Amino acid sequence: MRFASLVVAAAAVLSPLTFAQATNYSDKPPILLGAAWYPEQWPESQWDADLSLMEAAHIHVVRVGEFAWSTMEPTEGQYNFDWLERAIDLAAKHHICVVLGTPTAAPPAWLTEKYPETLRVDENGRRDEHGNRQQFSFADEKYRELAHDIAERMAERFGHNPNVVGWQLDNEYANPSFDPEAKAQFHAWLKKKYGAIANLNYHWATAYWSQTYNDFDQIPVREDEENPALLLDWKRFVTDTWVSYSENQISAIRPHADPRQFITTNTMGWFDGFDEYTLHKVLDIAAWDDYVGSFNSGNDYDYIENGARHDLTRGYKRKNFWVMETEPAFVNWHRINAPLNKGQVRDMAWQAIGHGADTVEYWQWRANRNGQEQYHGVLVGIDGRPAPVYAEIQQVGEEFNKTGAALEGTSPHSYAAVIQSYDSRWAIEFQRHTVRYDPVTELLAFYKPLREQAQAVDIVSPDAPLDGYKVVVAPELNVLPQAMADHLIAYVKQGGHLVLGPRTGMKDEYNALNPQRQPGPLVNLLGGSVTQFYALDGKVPVSGAEGAGTADIWAETLEATNPETKVLMRYGASNGWLDGQPAVLERAVGKGTITYVGAWLDPELMSKFTATWLKRAGVGPVVANVPDGVEVCERTGDGKTALILINHNTTPETVKLPGEMKDLLNGGQASSVNLEKYGVAVLER
Ligand code: GLA
Ligand code: GLA
Repeated sequence: MRFASLVVAAAAVLSPLTFAQATNYSDKPPILLGAAWYPEQWPESQWDADLSLMEAAHIHVVRVGEFAWSTMEPTEGQYNFDWLERAIDLAAKHHICVVLGTPTAAPPAWLTEKYPETLRVDENGRRDEHGNRQQFSFADEKYRELAHDIAERMAERFGHNPNVVGWQLDNEYANPSFDPEAKAQFHAWLKKKYGAIANLNYHWATAYWSQTYNDFDQIPVREDEENPALLLDWKRFVTDTWVSYSENQISAIRPHADPRQFITTNTMGWFDGFDEYTLHKVLDIAAWDDYVGSFNSGNDYDYIENGARHDLTRGYKRKNFWVMETEPAFVNWHRINAPLNKGQVRDMAWQAIGHGADTVEYWQWRANRNGQEQYHGVLVGIDGRPAPVYAEIQQVGEEFNKTGAALEGTSPHSYAAVIQSYDSRWAIEFQRHTVRYDPVTELLAFYKPLREQAQAVDIVSPDAPLDGYKVVVAPELNVLPQAMADHLIAYVKQGGHLVLGPRTGMKDEYNALNPQRQPGPLVNLLGGSVTQFYALDGKVPVSGAEGAGTADIWAETLEATNPETKVLMRYGASNGWLDGQPAVLERAVGKGTITYVGAWLDPELMSKFTATWLKRAGVGPVVANVPDGVEVCERTGDGKTALILINHNTTPETVKLPGEMKDLLNGGQASSVNLEKYGVAVLER
């Protein structure tokens, strides 16, 4: 056990004054509560009051600086970091460490005025203006030079500051730019990939609609309404450009920073603007911004969906991560910004920890005096006094302190994995074929019953190592190149249980149709294939081994071509094409199996199938007989096992534990726990 754990254990009982010196990397608690703090927006005379309130809420980390370029460099070449150093020092006095954001998501007015070429251009050729934020071109050389400069000066100043624990690059990478420089870079990227234009013409099949190119420069740059091969390569180019955008800043920070300072950026869950797996190769840890609900209303917290986004983020680096931002009950950008109910902010904080977060930071600490986000949820109001949600977050902070030692060095471990692929999501998005086919919803149709029954699921990239998994589900590997198929074939041959969803194996890496029918390079292993796909405009009956139910949205008719391949389900009478045709195929391969599910099945049927897959693979729940709506999360490691139970229901529930456990929140031993509405228990085995 590191010295840090002892300090944390002590911190729970001692007053802050007993700390001899300021917080730094080696004595920060293992599980951190934090907030986004914008000292540049406030007179310095108010900082101490803010930090005192943070300290009283057990906040131990603030993220600072990510939009403060105009304060750091008010005019070109005139730097002012003294205020930032004073803010960091004062935070340290309150036992609060700092993540520094590079301010490049918000270039100052002098910059965009003097270098208008750094402004982003949208797909229709319109150049952004100053104001708002994210108005820069991610590909522009001048912008990169300026971004490098500000990041390097920050790193020179704070790279060895003991109270700075890490760096956030920019903020929520999002929009690509279609400026002439970006276009030229895309052409160069294509040239490097394909070498000769004839090679590109072949893979893109450009004889179609006379698209044949004589030269790379002729290739248009679009995000939709184009050849699917072009669209897929554009997404990959965008990914590589965000990678080099990151590397530009990393090369400015790394040489001046202590190795203990991590470098990350804050991502956005299902956002698919680029490939997060590729980006995270150059980052030290993953971090994300967890906001609830659709864009419609802010209080539709679907805890399984939210848990899936945590699992997704954990999968970027296959290790614990940070929640860099989350909401203090509500945001300002939904159609209806309804709040989470009282108690759900704490529920969400513990869910994050349960899924492998080591930090939960709220956006934002204090209401802005002016600006686009005046209505957003905060911990502290404009007058500097706590908002009603402050007390709930303070309780979370107290609980993090109590449980930190037990959670330190632990993380979730799973026997079931869901494969998520950006190439495949993009390929489906370019040509959904039915508006109802949302690739994320489809992935969740497979994920949800797995999560409910196994109580632990990893979401990983297609090239992640699979040996540790007893069940691997690939809900929609639409783009399935041979090498990826080989990886899956090896998994099954080693005794793994592989489940494939609809649309699998249709495309090669160029988004061209695979020469075999679906599932392309897995046809031989399955001993069967898809004879035809159909978009559905209503429910279709299916029945077989798992009982009877329905398919909706999508249905493929299958054909078994190997005598070893079994038909597990068939469609009932519907449009004639589907009637009596196989819907699910399965083949045993040694000790392993490959199952192809050709339809989007109803939740009950999915649940029954999931139970079969898990039973066959010998994967049981962490805690059996848990009431619906109570989530079980287990973190293990460092010789410790911690259980986090969360009652997402509005009624009290009782959970019988697998044995006597230490109740870390209430003290004492427990063999069962009573959870009130939105109640949480943290237990140690
Ligand atoms: C039109 C066009 C064809 C083809 C079909 C597809 O008829 O002329 O080239 O695109 O639509 O339905
Ligand atoms: C995003 C941004 C923050 C803030 C919040 C508001 O996560 O990163 O700067 O705008 O949204 O919800």
